[in-house]
Amino acid sequence: MAATESAPRQPQHIDTSRPHPARVYDWFLGGKDNYPVDEELGRHILELEPHARRSARSNRWFMHRAIRWSATQAGIRQFLDIGTGIPTEPNLHRLAQATAPDARVLYVDNDPIVLAHAEALLRGRPEGVTQYVQADVREPRKILDQAERVLDFSRPVALSLVALMHFVSDEEGAYELVGSLVDALPSGSCLVLSVITGDYDPRTMEQAVQTYAAGGVTLVARSHAEVARFFKGLEVVEPGIVSLPEWHPELAAGEDVQGDAPVPLYAGVGIKS
Ligand SMILES: C[S@@+](CC[C@H](N)C(=O)[O-])C[C@H]1O[C@@H](n2cnc3c(N)ncnc32)[C@H](O)[C@@H]1O
Repeated sequence: MAATESAPRQPQHIDTSRPHPARVYDWFLGGKDNYPVDEELGRHILELEPHARRSARSNRWFMHRAIRWSATQAGIRQFLDIGTGIPTEPNLHRLAQATAPDARVLYVDNDPIVLAHAEALLRGRPEGVTQYVQADVREPRKILDQAERVLDFSRPVALSLVALMHFVSDEEGAYELVGSLVDALPSGSCLVLSVITGDYDPRTMEQAVQTYAAGGVTLVARSHAEVARFFKGLEVVEPGIVSLPEWHPELAAGEDVQGDAPVPLYAGVGIKS
């Protein structure tokens, strides 16, 4: 297998008639890969929650710290990142390969716009592997089949589901899907997860959920106890399941992790024994 392989990039229809989570998030992060429908939804959310951009950045920075932690403290060299998003530097493979140049990374997203930009996700270190597949987290068997071609499932894998599972409802099997992915991982693997919560400001979050729903996007806010269910059977590492900025701020490398705004997302990392 070549060190860095190219993803299949067949032309796909990008629906610009309704907002897409990847593009709205890109707009919040100040990216250019979004359309007027995405910006419109983003602006509605900003009217409700003026700190929404900071929350998006804070989420991204949690990913930075959790991947640094996985590579340095947990010694993990393989990463399965589902719900990757439009490339935003530094992407996960850069963070992992900064510690371990031979790190192997499989990116997965279901949005054709991410596939269209996947080239930027594949420029990794020659010692390592980066690959991209278009797939939906609601099809865990398909993802695992692809992942087994790229990752060695006899060695630990960090499963990264960062700002993903709030787009999957309980009725769609959110907990069972995460459970089946975690079940496939060997001992020493970890789950890196962040999701939206209404615990800090239920009223605003309810309005945000309705605003996303009006745009045709399912958004599920979960309580602390509901987020903890994602980590069932795993040992949640210190400091536990916390608001994003509270998760190992000392691992920041230049990111302005602390801030005065509350961040309505919980984050945590759990290890499989
Ligand atoms: C808010 S972005 C998060 C991006 C990145 N993980 C981060 O935290 O910076 C959510 C991503 O999940 C993807 N997504 C949403 N539902 C999905 C699904 N059912 N299967 C796979 N990806 C999905 C979206 O396309 C989008 O790229």
